[in-house]
Amino acid sequence: MRTHFCGELNQQHIDQQITVCGWVNRRRDHGGVIFVDLRDKKGMLQVVVDPDDANMFALAESVRNEFVLKVTGKIRLRPEGTLNPDMPTGEVELLAQELQILNSSETPPFQLDDDDVHDDIRLRYRYMDLRRPEMQYRMQLRAKVTHFMRSWLEENEFLDIETPMLTRATPEGARDYLVPSRTHGGSFFALPQSPQLFKQLLMMSGMDRYYQIVRCFRDEDLRADRQPEFTQLDIETSFMDEEGIMGMMESMMRGLFKTVMSVDIEAEFLRMSYAEAMERFGSDKPDLRISLELKTISDLLADVEFKVFSGPANDTDGRVAALLVPGGNSLSRKEIDGYTDFVGVYGAKGLAYIKCNDVSQGRDGLQSPILKFLPDEAITEILARTGAKTGDLIFFGADKTNIVNESLGALRIKVAQDLDLVESGWKFLWVVDFPMFEHDARENRWNALHHPFTAPSTDDADELEANPGGMLSRAYDMVLNGTELGGGSIRIHKNDMQQRVLKLLGIDEQEAEDKFGFLLNALRYGCPPHGGIAFGLDRMVMLMAGASSIRDVMAFPKTQTAACLLTSAPSTVSDKQLKELSIRLRKPKADG
Ligand code: AMO
Ligand code: AMP
Repeated sequence: MRTHFCGELNQQHIDQQITVCGWVNRRRDHGGVIFVDLRDKKGMLQVVVDPDDANMFALAESVRNEFVLKVTGKIRLRPEGTLNPDMPTGEVELLAQELQILNSSETPPFQLDDDDVHDDIRLRYRYMDLRRPEMQYRMQLRAKVTHFMRSWLEENEFLDIETPMLTRATPEGARDYLVPSRTHGGSFFALPQSPQLFKQLLMMSGMDRYYQIVRCFRDEDLRADRQPEFTQLDIETSFMDEEGIMGMMESMMRGLFKTVMSVDIEAEFLRMSYAEAMERFGSDKPDLRISLELKTISDLLADVEFKVFSGPANDTDGRVAALLVPGGNSLSRKEIDGYTDFVGVYGAKGLAYIKCNDVSQGRDGLQSPILKFLPDEAITEILARTGAKTGDLIFFGADKTNIVNESLGALRIKVAQDLDLVESGWKFLWVVDFPMFEHDARENRWNALHHPFTAPSTDDADELEANPGGMLSRAYDMVLNGTELGGGSIRIHKNDMQQRVLKLLGIDEQEAEDKFGFLLNALRYGCPPHGGIAFGLDRMVMLMAGASSIRDVMAFPKTQTAACLLTSAPSTVSDKQLKELSIRLRKPKADG
């Protein structure tokens, strides 16, 4: 039907006879001439309809936003003074010779280029929202990313293998989405939270290198970077250690950014231990575009009178840390109160601070409600450790270590954003040397920090059992600009170690057999050493597109309450269907 796309026309096409098809972005009437901005997947083109042809002019007068048109005519240079440098096609226009309305449109529920439209409306009419150039770009970018990944992985002998969607619960730790079985009344499939166990089984099957771009399902609290169904680029390899896998993934990412974004990523990614990341940034996914760091000062405050500080300073599970804010002296009382509320959300009980009016004067040059509690030596050392200069401000957190890390870690990012202290660029790193387990004090049990199939850093199960809390795992996370892009590990490949790890996690033999019997069995028949990683594809594309939520890079995402506004899913079903599935719903009780 067409000879060209709207968005690709320029001076080279002048005087050519062309045909384009697209949607009416806007129609403007200008003193007897009608302008139509016609839009397709490649961009916008200005179409001009002269009044000479009365029929065509009348037709053009009848078009409205989102009508679908086919226009044939000649490309010409726009008249002097009407060139639009903001538009890639802004030097030319199409003088219409034939105009056909392929379809009309009711008045759109929102103006496509209005930035102030509620998300719910956009999601309900997603097919129109997706017509926006920005969304077209994002979908195209996403396809380029998956295309690159597939070709890179195939060149490197990875095999694309599909794994079941109707399966058993997997242990990623979120709630499962369940599917009732009709043929086994009362039994349920779980949709996979990831293909973790299947990809390990594929290594045991001799497939050597596997990949899959695969949907995963997790019923968890949603945030900007979490959706109930999301896509992983899932990878597993045999006979490779963490160095081999990390090196390979780095070169894949470098290739991706070079090919798709024309960006050069540094040759080797920084590696940082989990302990160092928590100590310096209060986070296991530090945003290294921000130079602010947390400094431990517990050792300086063990004997001070101020219980808020001396308590955590003397607690083995506590931490007192300082966060220097360059230029923060200008923060107002109200702004500091705002930050105090901000850290309160993470459980912090307060947010002490020192303003550095003039550091050359020592104590006299400082201003703070807590100054009176601090001895001179502590003050001198705090200034030295934080590197405070005149004009800066120092925030303090004192509490259980995890609360200090979470609250000051989040504050670090918030303050940097507010004060424009976030550098541009792409800061990749690997976080390694994770603890194998974390202790759940309330339930008095160990939980796997990654998942129960990750290998510990020792091959000796006795050593592991002797000191579960001190053991590191062979897991690694790839972090980009403060987002966890992906995570993986070398896996346990021996039956005995797997059984003993499950036991440490409080999963007894019977439960292990019920839940993972098939895996434990497979481990008995010649399982190769193996490991892998899974990337959150949506998160990757979100960062590359400069979007603020993974919803913006998914064609048909769900809302915060895990509903699809376009199709109104989830929905109720008929009694007949329920009966077939052996499900009886309890009648909702009448209120009151
Ligand atoms: P993990 O649970 O860390 O590991 O998930 C891997 C990556 O998937 C992304 N991700 C999500 N993205 C969007 N919405 C969600 N709800 C969501 N949850 C996770 C993150 C994360 O880094 N089987 C293991 C991987 C392995 O060991 O190989 C796994 O699933 O970017
Ligand atoms: P207070 O003596 O409770 O008025 O606290 C004095 C200062 O210490 C205030 O600026 C509080 O915000 C701050 N503060 C209180 N508790 C903590 C804490 N756990 N960590 C950091 N600062 C705190």
